[in-house]
Amino acid sequence: MDAKTDTKTNTEKKSGTITVGNKNWDFPIYDGTVGPQVMDISKLYGESGLFTYDPGFTSTASCESKITYIDGDEGILLYRGYPIDQLAEHGDFLETCYLLLYGELPTPSQKHDFDYRVTRHTMVHEQMSRFFQGFRRDAHPMAVMTGSIGALSAFYHDSTDISDPLQRMIASLRMIAKVPTLAAMAYKYSIGQPFIYPKNDLDYSTNFLRMCYAVPTEDYKPNPVLARAMDRIFILHADHEQNASTSTVRLAGSSGANPFACIAAGCACLWGPAHGGANEAALNMLREIGHVDRIPEFIKRAKDKNDSYRLMGFGHRVYKNYDPRAKIMQKTCHEVLAELGIKDDPLLDVAMELEKIALHDEYFVEKKLYPNIDFYSGITLKAMGFPTTMFTVLFAVARTVGWIAQWKEMIEDPKQKIGRPRQLYTGATTRDYVPISRRK
Ligand code: CMC
Repeated sequence: MDAKTDTKTNTEKKSGTITVGNKNWDFPIYDGTVGPQVMDISKLYGESGLFTYDPGFTSTASCESKITYIDGDEGILLYRGYPIDQLAEHGDFLETCYLLLYGELPTPSQKHDFDYRVTRHTMVHEQMSRFFQGFRRDAHPMAVMTGSIGALSAFYHDSTDISDPLQRMIASLRMIAKVPTLAAMAYKYSIGQPFIYPKNDLDYSTNFLRMCYAVPTEDYKPNPVLARAMDRIFILHADHEQNASTSTVRLAGSSGANPFACIAAGCACLWGPAHGGANEAALNMLREIGHVDRIPEFIKRAKDKNDSYRLMGFGHRVYKNYDPRAKIMQKTCHEVLAELGIKDDPLLDVAMELEKIALHDEYFVEKKLYPNIDFYSGITLKAMGFPTTMFTVLFAVARTVGWIAQWKEMIEDPKQKIGRPRQLYTGATTRDYVPISRRK
């Protein structure tokens, strides 16, 4: 089968032709505001009887979106058009949440109102704390998060009607407000300490750190440097276009599932080591390497075609340049270590040396494998006192707003349909059932 695509441009419409053998089909081509054009092949099957085949969706745009733009070749990440470094440098996380949800930066009164509304939803139903008792103490906190976020739909029935814009808005605010509370509860539960209620006169990140680290027996003294670092980590992880967990949220939501269930689905997907689980895996890798002398041995393994070993925290499906989030994360990492007086962290030594070697190694250069955000976030979070099992949980806290913004955009999109991919079937063709007594 011979297939080719031509692009014709006229002043009004663009189209492309797919040619298979001696048959041609024309399909519209659309421009984004920036980034690659797309060919709308939604009628391809109806007209030609052909499906496209794109495992991993490497060439497939699954939706139209106005939220986040990534230029992976240039290492650019924009939320609603604003560069990530400007937001991380000058903004705060709740401002970023507002931007992602509503499309514009808030005015001072909008910001005040938004902060107030989110803050009012930070407590979770008291029954949730009993729900937690059902988990084993040694459960992975991501298992607890996936279960408890899903359980929110059992507690907040009045915000599960997705056809009601008011309920959608309340569910969105509830999740931005309550997921950090659940995350802190997951942590406290794992170490056997009492849950700490949210404190609404604190900002989002300070409140979160307090819920994680305060104990009823002592006063908690917030550390503004660590709170700012936490806030920045949340901003950097807030959204990332149509990544695996976001696509999961959209797919789950496309069936009309309630928002809490959809975010729980995204949380489950995020847990995987190729996605949000990579920060935990990256720190474990640095620990395993242990000393700069052992780096060549691990680089060798990562390059060996017969070894499935990969350097965690390196490479990205979209970034074929330095991950712009990794640069900010590296700076934040140094600020946190300086604040905590950690001068000689052997893991940091290994990380810096590994980064240096990998950035100059022919294999990594040729495959454009640069450090990603997870490379430095693990060291930072560890210094802040989080155990590795909590790393992906913190990612989930931050990404909740991205998932919600994308879910909301999808629900409000008049073109939205249930997601239903097709397949290239290579299994058995029709055959007759054989009774078990006659099977050999
Ligand atoms: N170490 C060694 N080799 C690698 C690595 C790595 N970390 N990543 C990719 N490669 C090689 C891979 O073996 C393949 O080689 P070849 O062409 O010879 O078969 C080539 O680079 C392309 O890899 P791929 O798996 O086809 O690329 P992908 O776009 O499907 O995978 C990735 C992207 C992030 C899953 C992958 O780079 C990886 O597994 N990295 C380690 C895990 C990690 O750090 N993940 C965090 C991603 S950032 C956080 C987030 O946004 O969720």
